Formats: sequence, structure tokens, C-alpha cells
Amino acid sequence: MISNAHLAEPFKIKMVEPLKKILKEERITAIKRAGYNPFLLKSDEVYIDLLTDSGTGAMSDKQWSGLMLGDESYAGSRNYYSLAKSVQSVFGYKQVIPTHQGRGAEQILFPQLIKKGEFVLGNMHFDTTKAHIELNGGIAKNFVIKEAFDTQTPHPFKGNFDVPKMDAFIREKGADNIAFILITVTCNSAGGQPVSMANIKEVSKCAKKYGIRVFFDSARYAENAYFIKQREDDYKGVSIPQIIKEMFSYGDGTTVSAKKDGLVNIGGLLCFKDDETLYKRCQAMCVVMEGFPTYGGLAGRDMEALAQGLKEGIDEEYLKYRINQVAYLGERLSEAGVPVQLPIGGHAVFVDAAKMLPHIPKEQFPAHALANELYIQSGVRAVEIGSLLLGRDPQTNKQQESPMELLRLTIPRRVYTYNHMDFVADALIKINRLAKNIKGVEFTYEPEILRHFTARFKLAE
Ligand code: F0G
Repeated sequence: MISNAHLAEPFKIKMVEPLKKILKEERITAIKRAGYNPFLLKSDEVYIDLLTDSGTGAMSDKQWSGLMLGDESYAGSRNYYSLAKSVQSVFGYKQVIPTHQGRGAEQILFPQLIKKGEFVLGNMHFDTTKAHIELNGGIAKNFVIKEAFDTQTPHPFKGNFDVPKMDAFIREKGADNIAFILITVTCNSAGGQPVSMANIKEVSKCAKKYGIRVFFDSARYAENAYFIKQREDDYKGVSIPQIIKEMFSYGDGTTVSAKKDGLVNIGGLLCFKDDETLYKRCQAMCVVMEGFPTYGGLAGRDMEALAQGLKEGIDEEYLKYRINQVAYLGERLSEAGVPVQLPIGGHAVFVDAAKMLPHIPKEQFPAHALANELYIQSGVRAVEIGSLLLGRDPQTNKQQESPMELLRLTIPRRVYTYNHMDFVADALIKINRLAKNIKGVEFTYEPEILRHFTARFKLAE
């Protein structure tokens, strides 16, 4: 029984983009040409694209009309002030620097905070975030609760920090060696899993005790707030905007990839609660890395679309539909015996490929093999989140073992319908029945850094 009935979309569709499904033989040719790496497919070869929810959402009529209001002045664009007003009303932060996307904010902020050899503590750092920490000489450490690694045992907040463990680590290493704490909401790498308000408070309390700064990595803050409202008793009667404001009140600032809950195709933010010195330093770096601080890598029109997207992304009716659609896909799979991370996350369904394909060893990347099979059988593109993504140990060059081998079916916002979800579910359920025939993959080309984007493979014998 599916507990989540179809929820009618809270929008009408005014413009459509045709989808084309190429033949299975053509898909086999395409994936071979792409070196068995779905990242190297052309989007025209993909039927339903679940590679990412980043920058792939649909904008509203109001956002499109915002594009016509673009003030492309180099300095002091009125769209910047409109964006800053939206940020202040959503996050409660008054110091705002626009950036071209989330990692643009990371590359400005991290050099200001990290000294060589210092630790950055997180629930579970996202891959480009970890790369930026390491590029600045820092060491990224994860403290997500152990329940996050057991896909079959539900827990309402699998993105939570194990605060006692983090506290002990800080005592062991000394607070002077901790650059800052980064709370990722929702926790993408753990399966789009939320962090509870109680846990955010605890992290902030622990940080205060040692005088350590707390930042948020908030790509999916609105989805996190929706889960808090659903699952945390004290917040059942609290509005989403109030929950978001309270979450951010426990931090010193945030980097934001606006390409997710900000509902735009490009854009990011770096915001501070109240730190004039750090804000000024980052503004100066913004000029060098991104652009003048009142546009920071964005056109005026993009800032206007984002100012509007921030407001739409926190609407409770929209969030209800959004989270329900993702849960619907996950529950259909789970009920048909496909192992998925439970409960279902906010932006994606994470299939436990280690459980589904126990015959494929970790070093032959089971979730990546599953992504290829899904593409061949159905034209659906998804992405591996496991040992392939994790890569080699920088010191020993040995393949690191990811605690989970997941296939991420990432749902773009306001783009696909429940019928598309059914198509994806039917395809995977069918594949699950024949899973033992799927072969692992081996490298034919392995780039040194962020290898998963451009690596090439052959099927293992
Ligand atoms: N932090 C988190 C938690 C993310 O999920 C991402 C991007 C970033 C930071 C970086 O933001 O892409 O705007 O520079 N995640 C995308 C994904 C790419 O597919 O999950 P960005």
C-alpha cells in the first residue's frame, strides 16, 4: 500500500519541453560511447534526467517576468537590493554577497577561515565542499549519527550530528585547531536527510562552549524546515518561515547553492548574521573571484529571479507537494522490495546498490553499474553516490571504502509529474528482479581529481 496518494501539483503548466526517448539499441551505443559514464551522455540521449536537482528546476511565471526587470548596472543594481531584502526576510541575515553558485561562496569564505592543518567539522560534507576545504589545507571530518549508514532502519533525522563524538574530538584536537563547524541542511551525502532543530541547537551550544564559528551549507534548507515541522513535536504548529529563521539564528552565516531550494537555474549566496570584518574581507575577495559585490557572478536579471524564487521555495503547499512526490517514488520502490534509504529524503531517493547487487564488489562500483543498467533499460539517468565518488586516499592513493553504495534518483523541482515517477519506479522494479545479471565496471581512464565526472569504464569480466 502506498501511503502517499498522488497530490495534485500546486501549479498549472503553461509551457512544455518535449521529451524524446531514443531506442534501446541507440542507448546501448550511447552509453558505450560515453565510456559507461552517464555524466558523458548528451542530454538528448536521456529520457528522464534524475542526475541532479541542482539548477534543473522550473521557474514560475513571476520569476520569468523578473528576468525582464534586470538592471544590469555594474554597481548597485536594484536587483541586488531586491535580493538582499528577500535574503533578510527568509534567512534573517543582513550581510549578503551573491555568487555564481554554492561553490563560488565556498571559494570566497573558506580561505578566510581555514589555516593549514585545521579541521572543518560537519555532519557529512558534500564532495565539492570537501574539495574546497582540502584545497585550503583543511581536513574535512564527518560526524553524522551512525543510523545514517543503515539504510533499512528508519530514523526521523538521519542528518543529525553525533554531538558527544564531535565534542570529544574537539577536546582531543584542541578548539584552536578547529576552523569552523558546517551544518549541511538537508544532508545530501546521507540521502537528503534532515537535521532536527534540537540537534542544530546542540551543535551551536557545543560550538559556543569552545568559541568555534558555526556556518550552514544550505542548499536544501526549506526541505529541512518542512521535515522539522512534520517530525519534531515542538514545531508542529510553527510556520515554515519561522522555522527557517530559527534554524539560521543558531549560525554565524551560510553558503547557499540557490540552484536547489532557491528555485533558480544558476545562483548562490554568501551571507552573515553580523560579522562586519569577515563580511568586508569576503566582499574584497568576491571582487577578485566572482565580481563586484553587488552582482558577484550573476546578471541583474538572475538576482531578480532568485529574489522571487527564495519566497516561492518556502511556501508550505509547494513543499508538501515536493516532498510527497519524492516520497511517492521511494515508497513505490520500497514496497516492491527495492532497498532504499529510509525514510525517503527530501530531494532524492537513494537506492542501496550494495544490498541490491551483493555480487558486485565495492571496487567495481555497484551503484554506478546500476546507473548504467537503468539508463540502458529505460533512458533514465541517475548518479552514483558511493566509492566512485569518494575516490582514493590522497596520502596512500588507495581506493577508499564508502560506508554506503547508493544510486541517487534526484528529482528536479516542478519539472516531472507522478507519471514520470511511475515510469522510473516500474523500470527499477523490473531491474531488481534481474539484478544478479548486472556486471560491475572497471576503469579504462581514471582522472586524478573529481574522477567520477569524466572517468571511462568497461564492463568487468
Ligand atoms: N553543498 C551541497 C550540500 C550541495 O548539494 C551542493 C551541490 C553544493 C554545496 C555546491 O553547490 O553546485 O551550486 O556549487 N550539489 C549538487 C548535487 C551539485 O548534485 O547534489 P553548487
